[in-house]
Amino acid sequence: MRIAVFGLGYVGTVTAAGLASRRHHVCGVDVDEMKVGLIREGRSPVVEPGLDELVAAGVAKGFLTATTDAAEALECADVSLICVGTPSTPQGSTDLEYVRRAVADIRQAMDVARPPVSGFHAVVVRSTVPPGTGDEVVAPVFAEVPEEWSVGTAMCPEFLREGCGVADFFDPPFVVVGTDRARVKQVLGRLFAFLDRELRYVDVRSAEALKYACNAFHATKVSFANEMGRIFRPYGVDSREVMEIFCEDKTLNISSTYLRPGFAFGGSCLPKDLRSLLHMARVNDLDVPLLSGTLRTNELVVRDVLDRLIATPARVVAMLGLSFKMDTDDLRESPNVELAERLIGKGFEVRIYDPIINPARLVGANLRYIESRLPHLSRLLAAAPREALQGSDVAIVATSDPSVLAALRGSPPERIMDLSGRLGPDLERIPGYEGVGWTA
Ligand SMILES: NC(=O)c1ccc[n+]([C@@H]2O[C@H](COP(=O)([O-])OP(=O)(O)OC[C@H]3O[C@@H](n4cnc5c(N)ncnc54)[C@H](O)[C@@H]3O)[C@@H](O)[C@H]2O)c1
Repeated sequence: MRIAVFGLGYVGTVTAAGLASRRHHVCGVDVDEMKVGLIREGRSPVVEPGLDELVAAGVAKGFLTATTDAAEALECADVSLICVGTPSTPQGSTDLEYVRRAVADIRQAMDVARPPVSGFHAVVVRSTVPPGTGDEVVAPVFAEVPEEWSVGTAMCPEFLREGCGVADFFDPPFVVVGTDRARVKQVLGRLFAFLDRELRYVDVRSAEALKYACNAFHATKVSFANEMGRIFRPYGVDSREVMEIFCEDKTLNISSTYLRPGFAFGGSCLPKDLRSLLHMARVNDLDVPLLSGTLRTNELVVRDVLDRLIATPARVVAMLGLSFKMDTDDLRESPNVELAERLIGKGFEVRIYDPIINPARLVGANLRYIESRLPHLSRLLAAAPREALQGSDVAIVATSDPSVLAALRGSPPERIMDLSGRLGPDLERIPGYEGVGWTA
């Protein structure tokens, strides 16, 4: 294929040289003449292990060229890959100026360059850009193109790490393509065929968001390990040993467990032990904003649901699910109990159905907790989901119990606020559905 790569920094140079090594015809474009000059001489403008050799080989074999002229790069090109920088503005927002410029350059170049043989050209963003950029900044520029060109756009985030960029380019964790255009999918399928990897096709905004989620998680992991180290050091703990063993747990710790967006955490252990850790930090005059932030975020998740309900005319609420997770009747520090209590405090009429909560069977700390937080629990409890739903304006779904889905399909209230996300598309298709932290 013929490929134009815009931006010859870390991502662009690795991409251009990597694709050239797989016998694609690549022309790199940069506004920086020095970078273009270096590539033409067969040298990499950035330092990455193995990249000099890859650039030299690509140039020597005639698969890799470079230019400052977008039109020259676009001549007969099947794909444009945008790899320009997206730095922070002083306020922290993403500066999209380079992306805008590159997109405008590509569009202008179409007025003079010849289209590819197929007539179809894919404009693909590899730079890290906020959700909405593809729809609002990139696609509109190509709404009108010269007759001989047909253009589709996509987001295909890059996941390489500096220092092992070349190795990562050839062995990415996934290849994710955000587009709704079948032809763009075809083009990218051919482009990345050498990776021998199933491409993941998603919504443009999901592809854009994914890169931020990955980087935020990596940063959070580093800070988590460092906060553990800072909290435990005064106690004479070797936190390297702790974290080494911690990482051996691939079921709960290093796994997809606890990584689904949903409602707040709760239960008899997490809030209590977090408070205890925060106390250990406090007595040693340590600030641990990540850990204290988790309690704050947890509180905000509850408040957000409350605010969203208050903003509606709904006043009768059916809470479907009360314990902090399925298959337990432990109500201690259940965020659902907290939510029910606050709703009642705000004047809502609350009916509760939980498949396994039986107030007559609650004992010990569990009973004391519920007596102090929801003393009238038994009066609020319905024996079946249908009973809870009768006359309700809104259902709060906090369970994966299928009987709840059946009842909601039979007599749906005006609104459904899903806190669990585990009842699948059948629930999401009911009019009035709203996910707590997602759009279905
Ligand atoms: N560096 C990484 O490890 C990495 C990894 C994954 C994703 N990303 C993302 O990829 C993007 C690029 O990162 P980078 O580190 O390669 O940036 P970089 O600053 O090294 O390179 C960007 C290049 O784009 C050029 N440029 C600017 N405007 C241009 C235009 N209109 N036409 C052609 N070239 C133009 C610049 O001159 C520069 O050479 C960023 O969005 C970044 O967040 C970076």
